[in-house]
Amino acid sequence: MTPIKINLTAIFLLITVVSFCQEKIDKDEIDKVRKTWNKAFVDTTANFFNKKPNELLMETVKGKKPGKALDIGMGQGRNSIFLAKNGWKVTGIDIADEAMKMAIKEAERNHVQIDTIVTPMETFDYGINQWDLVVRLYEGCLNGGADMDKVAKSLKKGGLFVFEFFHIEAGIEMKRPDFGCTSANVKEIVEKTNKFKILSYSENKGVADYSLKTLKLIKLVAKKK
Ligand SMILES: C[S@@+](CC[C@H](N)C(=O)[O-])C[C@H]1O[C@@H](n2cnc3c(N)ncnc32)[C@H](O)[C@@H]1O
Repeated sequence: MTPIKINLTAIFLLITVVSFCQEKIDKDEIDKVRKTWNKAFVDTTANFFNKKPNELLMETVKGKKPGKALDIGMGQGRNSIFLAKNGWKVTGIDIADEAMKMAIKEAERNHVQIDTIVTPMETFDYGINQWDLVVRLYEGCLNGGADMDKVAKSLKKGGLFVFEFFHIEAGIEMKRPDFGCTSANVKEIVEKTNKFKILSYSENKGVADYSLKTLKLIKLVAKKK
């Protein structure tokens, strides 16, 4: 009995240490990303991104009755503000607190209100049947399993999910082979939830909202079943 007890204790301790280290690594990574994006949006005047709202988002909501929207990784708020100006009640989440302050000021200048929450998306409670629209634009590829399930559960029936990011070939072209998504990182993950009907999916070259270069992009619009 004793050797088994010792082994179980050892395993428990190992799991605790690994989880602690993992959390530490993630927090460091979040801080690094926060600093990068705060600097990118606040400190630089460089014209590195499209200040207008994302085209796919504009097309998707055109003629739709506005409702509640969640903007994941809202950045300096170009898409949140566009939605708010069109009658949507928007919540934007991000880790780049300084960029979000810019978004709030810009919303005020436009006489619209947006709710902002400084939080990593990983720990945000998306809620259940909350949103008519969830937006994830230029934030990264989709993470499998739980993450997309969280998005699916949080959308109301008929609610829309809009996604756009660089294709992996764009990453290779930019000499960042680890950057960019495959259809497995996007379409297959959405399909695996069994909770969406994909309304449109493309992998084509176009001007990327970030970098403003012509690169291969993945675009997806899906509707909650
Ligand atoms: C390229 S910007 C895109 C901003 C905006 N979606 C747009 O299209 O203009 C990426 C944003 O994702 C945010 N971000 C990165 N990792 C995040 C995380 N784990 N949780 C929440 N936001 C994150 C960054 O801080 C940054 O503002």
